[in-house]
Amino acid sequence: MIEFIDVHKTLGGKKVLDGLDLKIERGEAFAIIGRSGCGKSVTLKHMVGLMAPESGRVIVDGAEVTALEDSALEPVRKKFGFLFQNSALLNSLSVGENVGLPLREHKEMAEPDIRKRVAEVLELLGLRQLEEVMPADLSGGMRKRVALARAIIRKPEIILYDEPTTGLDPIMANVINNLIAEMHHKLKVTSIVVTHDMNSVFMVAERIALLYQGKIARMGTVDYFKNSDDKIVRQFVTGAPEGPMS
Ligand SMILES: Nc1ncnc2c1ncn2[C@@H]1O[C@H](COP(=O)(O)OP(=O)(O)O)[C@@H](O)[C@H]1O
Ligand SMILES: [Mg+2]
Repeated sequence: MIEFIDVHKTLGGKKVLDGLDLKIERGEAFAIIGRSGCGKSVTLKHMVGLMAPESGRVIVDGAEVTALEDSALEPVRKKFGFLFQNSALLNSLSVGENVGLPLREHKEMAEPDIRKRVAEVLELLGLRQLEEVMPADLSGGMRKRVALARAIIRKPEIILYDEPTTGLDPIMANVINNLIAEMHHKLKVTSIVVTHDMNSVFMVAERIALLYQGKIARMGTVDYFKNSDDKIVRQFVTGAPEGPMS
């Protein structure tokens, strides 16, 4: 579904992606992990064409994103729903209006159909009672839930989650992790989660890639990451301050 071929990207004088190769299959629940600042968000931005590499190719569902003009990116972007770190809700709009916003912006549906679709997604995420509520009256966890509803309103094939549990308490984080897993199975999408929260990784992912020095340093199943003796894997999973990645 998504392929990176020898992708290079320099930002602020720093080589962030240094020949990144990565292949994510359709329908996978995939996690990209790595230390802060290692290029996880940059990698996601390359998938949706928000950033372009100096060299290398990014292919999404057969379309070479890196060869497309900005104006030709919309059909590719439509395949994605993203829950970015800063996916803030608009405070002046109700929950229902926030969720329906992407449909109204793209003017691709008649108003009665939009209302129907919003109701459907609110139901799916257990938000039905909150349609008229304003974001300011919601907890952080509920706001994430609403942002996720908005992310899936256009029926994406791929959902990107950038640090979905950052800033949430452990209980709320697990609620969101369960929700990600539930959406993955119910919507039959490809899910890509970027995080440094290992608990989150083990709850939501089937396969994990560890990004380090601009490349995938290790890749494997949850079992591999839980049980491997590899020093790099162990340091990341246990969070040991001393080790090969220090
Ligand atoms: N727009 C930008 N301009 C300059 N530097 C950037 C930009 N975006 C990201 N970077 C740098 O690229 C590196 C990787 O960033 P990022 O992908 O956001 O890290 P993370 O793995 O924490 O998500 C960091 O060193 C960051 O400072
Ligand atoms: Mg990031």
